Amino acid sequence: MTSPLRLLTALCCSAFVFLSACGQEPEPVSPESVVDEAEEPAGPRLDVDGARIIAADSEPGNWLSHGRTYDEQRYSPLEQINAANVNELGLDWYYDFETKRGLEATPIVVDGMMFTSGAWSRVYALDAGTGDLLWTHDPEVPGEWAVHACCDVVNRGVALWKGSVFVGTLDGRLISLDAKTGAVNWTVLTIDKSKPYTITGAPRVVNGKVIIGNGGAEYGVRGYVSAYDAETGAIAWRFYTIPGDPAEPFESEALEMAAGTWNGEWWKFGGGGTVWDSMAFDSELNLLYIGVGNGSPWNQQIRSPGGGDNLFLSSIVALNPDSGKYVWHYQTTPGETWDYTATQHMILADLEIDGALRKVILQAPKNGFFYVLDRENGELISAEPYVQTTWATHVDPETGRPVEVEGARYKEGPALVVPAPYGAHNWHPMAFSPDSGLIYIPAQDIPFVYGTDENFEFTPGLWNVGVNPLYASFSEQPPEVQAQLMEMVKGQIIAWDPVARREVWRVQHALPGNGGMLATAGNLIFQGNSTGTFAAYRADTGDQLWSMSAQTGIVASPVTYSIDGEQYISVLAGWGGAFPLFAGDFAAAAGVRNVSRILTFKLGATGALPSIETPKMVLDPPPRVDDADAIARGKQLYSDRCMVCHGDGAVGGGVTPDLRYMDAEKHQMWQGIVLGGLHRERGMVSFAGVLTPEESTAIQAFVIERSHQMLEASGSP
Ligand code: HEC
Repeated sequence: MTSPLRLLTALCCSAFVFLSACGQEPEPVSPESVVDEAEEPAGPRLDVDGARIIAADSEPGNWLSHGRTYDEQRYSPLEQINAANVNELGLDWYYDFETKRGLEATPIVVDGMMFTSGAWSRVYALDAGTGDLLWTHDPEVPGEWAVHACCDVVNRGVALWKGSVFVGTLDGRLISLDAKTGAVNWTVLTIDKSKPYTITGAPRVVNGKVIIGNGGAEYGVRGYVSAYDAETGAIAWRFYTIPGDPAEPFESEALEMAAGTWNGEWWKFGGGGTVWDSMAFDSELNLLYIGVGNGSPWNQQIRSPGGGDNLFLSSIVALNPDSGKYVWHYQTTPGETWDYTATQHMILADLEIDGALRKVILQAPKNGFFYVLDRENGELISAEPYVQTTWATHVDPETGRPVEVEGARYKEGPALVVPAPYGAHNWHPMAFSPDSGLIYIPAQDIPFVYGTDENFEFTPGLWNVGVNPLYASFSEQPPEVQAQLMEMVKGQIIAWDPVARREVWRVQHALPGNGGMLATAGNLIFQGNSTGTFAAYRADTGDQLWSMSAQTGIVASPVTYSIDGEQYISVLAGWGGAFPLFAGDFAAAAGVRNVSRILTFKLGATGALPSIETPKMVLDPPPRVDDADAIARGKQLYSDRCMVCHGDGAVGGGVTPDLRYMDAEKHQMWQGIVLGGLHRERGMVSFAGVLTPEESTAIQAFVIERSHQMLEASGSP
């Protein structure tokens, strides 16, 4: 028997697969003719709309929207795979990506067809039952644009609406593709290309409008979120999250109000407040919630020297999704100065609190407090620390404001603070099970030393945070401090009761940087972690019931779906993101590298991954450079310009090259790579505009020094 999906696969493959990407070159066979032939019998119902997403529980075999439903709970009613039989789970199929960078997307699955994005904003449509590729679209993001991305060339997923698939690209485009063929319907540019904006977040489609934000607040931008007509790509509205130059007219009354909370000339640095990840939609209240990011630069003393709350940084803002008009806001971190974004996953739920059923919005932002807000008006219901928070003792329930610890703002000098810019919880989605009443937070404890960059100079388009990364550098610490820090660095699943406001249990992981969560009606939660294990736990107790080696760190969230009555669990496995790029030794401790795949499991399957070869790493550096000044200069320059991708202390975290392993031959090409842009297509731009040849050589001297330090530490001279 030929299933409709198989038929579509066969047609698509014969017509298109030999073109490099079916989506790009619809000729010579027109997409319509393919679709017509496939119409008998009807194919997957790709005409997803608001009514279907709202009624998602009536088609539990599908995963229609980023968080499955508009409330983004990431809970599936499927229960064929459950706590009693999950030990029979096995690998059914896997799909290898051609890229080797981080994978963060949540796939969309409809009637056996899977849509996902991968690294470099590429889009893939697969047969969800077999893993066969149906079509792919490469938006051809220029490799150089990667220099504007703080946290890898990732993408967190696509949206599906009325037969079209939407993706935001790293270089700021929003693209609509025909879901059946991958052909481009329309493309719009959502950014000013003279500014270092990037898109990594998944679009949401609400009331016929595609909503998309962007990132770039580490580089100097002003945040906003835009809505485009799903049909035509025409812009419907744009909401700026922070005020621009007050000499110009304000775009909204809300921004005029917000401008009173700023000081200095913030607009010259961009100011920040990017909406780079989370959104949620309440169809009854007709409210769209957006999570707003950190300040640009991070350091408030530079950004808004007189202080102030700096609205709407680090806030949850409720908007009218039809007009983009402001409705309410709640600011989690007033006067943000630690990169404490409120872009983390938001979940909508109706909870009984103090005897009354409340419509709440839940968030565990980077700052370490778990917030329960009334989503009708933004009123604070509760805020409790879910990890150690050394910057604030508590949130005052009267004022709704955090009570800060003296010195945490590092005005008088460097301060060791937990959580770090990585967050107590980052973008990795949490999940909520209405059965257990628990929120599952992929949380982490990472300390960080914040200290003002005394030599800060705004360099448009490059790393501009106003914090000197050397204060926090692990490799700069004496061994006993390093040992203490390693002890402090932790990752865990925290099962949090949002009503009782407390942790119920936790699963302790070896390290931070673990994957997003999925909860199911089978009394299960699933998560992949940074040390390369994909596992299932009991949702009520946290007992681990099943696991498998994924051969790579997992950061994305799993999904579940069913085809012909058979339930599947699927996850994008592919180590990447801010932690492995930036965190040096902390990330290297995970001992994994990027192997980019989709892994799909079902009961009774017995598939296995091909064995992978661990590349042999040989330390064979050129001789030390006998110039302490150059090494010291190089260390500072490295930390300002290179650390964000090559790691603290030039320690690679398994995604970008570990520069300490460059041998003498590779070092010959140093200036060609660093100043000449030899590898620009693969994301390593030329730094000729910001580094002189002498400065580049100084960085090289530092990198060689680090290789020798590693040789010494390993006992070889
Ligand atoms: C935006 C991220 C990013 C930044 C910032 C960055 N690099 Fe890179 N770099 C890369 C990537 C990705 C590669 C691997 C490219 C490839 O696949 O060949 C790379 C490769 C290199 C290589 C070649 C390594 C090898 O083993 O082949 C050198 C040398 C290098 N980078 C030096 C630097 C220096 C020095 C700086 C700072 C001035 C820097 N990079 C900043 C992303 C970055």
